[in-house]
Amino acid sequence: MKKIVLSRQEIANRVRELGQMITRDFAHDELLLIGVLNGAFIFTADLARAIDLPLQVDFIRVASYGSGSSSSGTITFTKDVERPVGGKKIVLVEDIIDTGRTIARLQQHFLQSGAAGVHICALIDKKERREVAVHPDYAGFAVAEGFLVGYGLDFAEQYRNLPDVYHLENPEHP
Ligand code: IMP
Ligand code: MG
Repeated sequence: MKKIVLSRQEIANRVRELGQMITRDFAHDELLLIGVLNGAFIFTADLARAIDLPLQVDFIRVASYGSGSSSSGTITFTKDVERPVGGKKIVLVEDIIDTGRTIARLQQHFLQSGAAGVHICALIDKKERREVAVHPDYAGFAVAEGFLVGYGLDFAEQYRNLPDVYHLENPEHP
């Protein structure tokens, strides 16, 4: 069973606002958007089009080993970015922050790689299971709890193509 929690219209409105904020905040910078695959592929595409600045787009892929609906502490990079990051202002584009481990690790990685700044833009900030203190600079929606799918978010690689975001009631037995 799944229940709609964010409609495509709400998402579109909020993505436009996030794009306007980033446009205002990075007007004088060399901006590099880095989408975290696979979950952020749709959000990155929409956000990039909502930013009215010259920018570059790249992607990184990480794997975190755990059960289908939660991540573990171990994060490995399975695809690195291909653009140089030295001196760039990076905005990491993530679908959802849960424990915070993935995004905290990525932020640390790009700071160590010589980026001029690493900001975080998450479509959804889910706070119930936070283990690492990370605060996204830009957050589309705050959601208290639950497992969400759609608009890029998956359960076992399914549902990414849904245009709206749904709460999946029983993720282990959808
Ligand atoms: P974290 O390292 O625990 O913050 O995990 C973040 C990653 O876990 C996200 O990039 C998602 O891939 C996945 N994840 C966490 N919560 C959800 C959810 O509700 N739906 C889909 N994926 C999720
Ligand atoms: Mg995922």
